[in-house]
Amino acid sequence: MVESKKLLNDPTDIKQQFSIFSEFPELVYLDNAATTQRPQSVINRVNNFHQRENASIRRGVYRLSARAAQEFEAARSAVAKFFRAPQENCIAFTQGATESVNIVARSIIEATLKPGDNVVVSLMEHHANLIPWQMLCQANGAELRIIPVSELGDLDLSELDTLIDARTAIVAVVHISNTLGTINPVEKIIAAAHQREVPVLVDAAQSAALYPIDLTNLDCDFMVCSAHKMFGSFGVGILYVHPRYHRQVQPYNYGGGIIRSVTVKETEFLSYPYLLEAGTPNVAGVIGLAEAIRFIETLDRTSLVKQLHQLTNDARQKLASVEGLSLLGNPALSSSLLSFSLDGMHPHDIASFLNEDHIAVRAGQHCTQPLLDHLGVPATVRVSLSIYNTPSDIDKLVGSMQAMKSFWT
Ligand SMILES: Cc1ncc(COP(=O)(O)O)c(C=O)c1O
Repeated sequence: MVESKKLLNDPTDIKQQFSIFSEFPELVYLDNAATTQRPQSVINRVNNFHQRENASIRRGVYRLSARAAQEFEAARSAVAKFFRAPQENCIAFTQGATESVNIVARSIIEATLKPGDNVVVSLMEHHANLIPWQMLCQANGAELRIIPVSELGDLDLSELDTLIDARTAIVAVVHISNTLGTINPVEKIIAAAHQREVPVLVDAAQSAALYPIDLTNLDCDFMVCSAHKMFGSFGVGILYVHPRYHRQVQPYNYGGGIIRSVTVKETEFLSYPYLLEAGTPNVAGVIGLAEAIRFIETLDRTSLVKQLHQLTNDARQKLASVEGLSLLGNPALSSSLLSFSLDGMHPHDIASFLNEDHIAVRAGQHCTQPLLDHLGVPATVRVSLSIYNTPSDIDKLVGSMQAMKSFWT
């Protein structure tokens, strides 16, 4: 009998796989929404590729090139399987979630977007899932419609049935807000949009690593995320396109690697997903992403997510006791991140003070300026947790905040 391997659910054990914490033992890393750290297995896989396997793909018949190409395509299969895509060829590799959204806007939606049409997004979108649609609407005489956000930081879906109508070209919505932590009911939004045969893009940048996404069940039309927020490398993104849209996809960049035949007069392109991957891709990064997925599959994500939610709730309660501190929103369902501000102190000063205690947090608008404008807050400090954060990290954060408060008052 094959013994099934025990999945990891202890943050302290998991932390040992991340060499950055042995390099910097005092580091309290609470900026996981910006990028996660990389486990040793991913670092080794990428290094090994550079040391022993490096070759460009697609254009070589020699062994190294063929092997690299094979690994690259194996990564595509691994990603498709991980997200339970209906077919392997639904996954294109891009430079990141930002580029993936731009591709959907420019290579799929633009061709049929007419004056008087509309695009629906929410007020809590990251600029990456707002500006491409804003620009597209402006250029094509279409209207950008906004799903509002309540004071608590939840999407207000009461008007969804009028926001989405027969002229809606796409609904593009974030799964987990990178500023509030809100977990949005994307299933409900997809159902409402599909009733009118409107496609839905899900921005899964903040959810892809730890919240199981089953694309076959979810049935969204497009999904985007970034490898570097999934324990993988920078510069690699994922774009999922449902098979029903494959024939509509046009090349995004023109160049080598995406053609069936070329004459000086015309070009015949490969089909989706290959026609989106012009030029030489980040082969090491893509292969590293497959390793990151292997790493994620060693984790007991259900248990870890539960622990992370508990830890984030503890952090909320403890931080709320710091005099003058206001938490931004209190969504019905929230993930492992929170934002706050402190009376009389600029978030950048708070982040600098925390840095003195080796605590890494992010301060600013988190690429969600319209959301912060709406909530009447110029900027916040954002604390975002991942699988290697422990209760002691939260105690250090709260202790440092309290020390800061007494230092400044
Ligand atoms: C919700 C969300 N969407 C999109 C992005 C853009 O990701 P990238 O910068 O990797 O393209 C981010 C990055 O923080 C994000 O948090």
